[in-house]
Amino acid sequence: MKKATCYINRHQKIADIDDRLYGSFIEHMGRAVYTGIYEPDHASADDHGFRTDVIDTVKELKVPLVRDPGGNFLSGYNWKDGIGPQSERPTRLDLAWQSLEDNSFGIDEFYDWTKAVETTGMIAVNLGTGTPAEAGQLIEYCNIKKGTYWSDLRVKNGHEEPHDFKVWCLGNEMDGPWQIGQLSAEDYGKKARETGKILKWVDPDVELVLCGSSGKEMSTFPEWDMTVLDHCYNEVDYISLHRYYEYNDSLKDFLASYYDLDEFIQIIKSTADYVKAKHRSDKVMMLSLDEWNVWYMKDMNLKRWQQAPAIAEDVYNLMDALVVGGLLCTIINNADRVKIACLAQLVNALSPIHTEPNGGVLRHSTFYPFKQVSTYGRGEVYRSIMDCDAIVTEKFGSVPSLQSLTTYDSNEGSLSYFVLNTEESDDTVLTLDFQEFGNMKMIDHQVIMGDDLYAFNSFETPLKVVPVTGHIEDGVKSSFEVMLPKLSWHIFRFQK
Ligand code: AHR
Repeated sequence: MKKATCYINRHQKIADIDDRLYGSFIEHMGRAVYTGIYEPDHASADDHGFRTDVIDTVKELKVPLVRDPGGNFLSGYNWKDGIGPQSERPTRLDLAWQSLEDNSFGIDEFYDWTKAVETTGMIAVNLGTGTPAEAGQLIEYCNIKKGTYWSDLRVKNGHEEPHDFKVWCLGNEMDGPWQIGQLSAEDYGKKARETGKILKWVDPDVELVLCGSSGKEMSTFPEWDMTVLDHCYNEVDYISLHRYYEYNDSLKDFLASYYDLDEFIQIIKSTADYVKAKHRSDKVMMLSLDEWNVWYMKDMNLKRWQQAPAIAEDVYNLMDALVVGGLLCTIINNADRVKIACLAQLVNALSPIHTEPNGGVLRHSTFYPFKQVSTYGRGEVYRSIMDCDAIVTEKFGSVPSLQSLTTYDSNEGSLSYFVLNTEESDDTVLTLDFQEFGNMKMIDHQVIMGDDLYAFNSFETPLKVVPVTGHIEDGVKSSFEVMLPKLSWHIFRFQK
């Protein structure tokens, strides 16, 4: 049996948690849109053709922001193909995913869908094949009330009121050789800056996200981030980060993904702060982790020139759910600088939600840790000192065996404590020391664990990997001893 102590200090507030840290992403990729969120012939479809069974499931995750329309898809996408009468919209080749795009779901449909799921849109403009002028026309179409060519066209297309999207991404992963219209940091920096100026001239209230490195492994990392920020520091509000993890034979390394993500965030923060100093600027650049998840890229299963083929439909298991829990802790623990995060993605393509065409909806294992943290991890986030054993990993050296997150809702006087135990062979007794938080009552304890790390949910057995109620200790006190079985994920909730 291992022993550990976590000291949670009331005086160590990291930040108020920006709700947008619980964002997600819908790309025109595989079946995310078509037969995912949009399937007019489905029994549950509403008047817009949106699957209401999916709407209800998405609502459970309480995502306040959804990025759209891509992703790699974005860099070959002409938004004008997706407006006006659906029967007149062109079918195009989507070079990114080698699929057919019939454009029946465009910006207006996306807006209507965000209303249906009670979220907001984070819109990305094409800086691959697209131009700054086209980006300007899109924001005019979306955010100007009326009286101009593009805003009047939106009104004519059935939307009297502007969509009023407030967060805009300047392209997607423009450093990647896989990107349609890849650019050098110099070229992208200039194009993003000029596009950003247009977007803010059309609507000064929008916030802009600049493409950072699409991964720590890129040969241009972190030089890319420094150069593009150098070009755009005054114009943009966020630098983006994308990070995916997959299990590759080493469980220790995979479970330590939370540690790697933290390192990535720290490097980008330092890089942004270097540019801040160089520019003698008072502005602190915030971070947008607008793609993160577990993703088994080797199982992509690309099929050429089909409409909505089933690609990247990862089936997540218990191990993946544990990793997602750890990653969520890292994200929220960095809430002082990371203000937006998007679980990539939301439906079917590398997603916690799976649908069958003409069929049902399934919640993968990763649905549950996301739902728990999104539901109970709001308010303020606190730093804690963790005294625990280290695990020796191949990739990252020694990393703490426990990763945790403490959030506090001061209106409710309720504290949520999330913890991942990455110990493989021993259970851990963890002492939670609330210090200046004072006496609390434990009101809930949910745990995700199991004997089979490869267990997954399916339509036949949809509840194989779900949270179950754990031991709830009695008493009103400032210190609790909790048992964390090996390889387990927990949420404990306490009330003042
Ligand atoms: O989310 C899947 C893909 O991952 C996105 O299209 C791209 O931005 C990233 O490489």
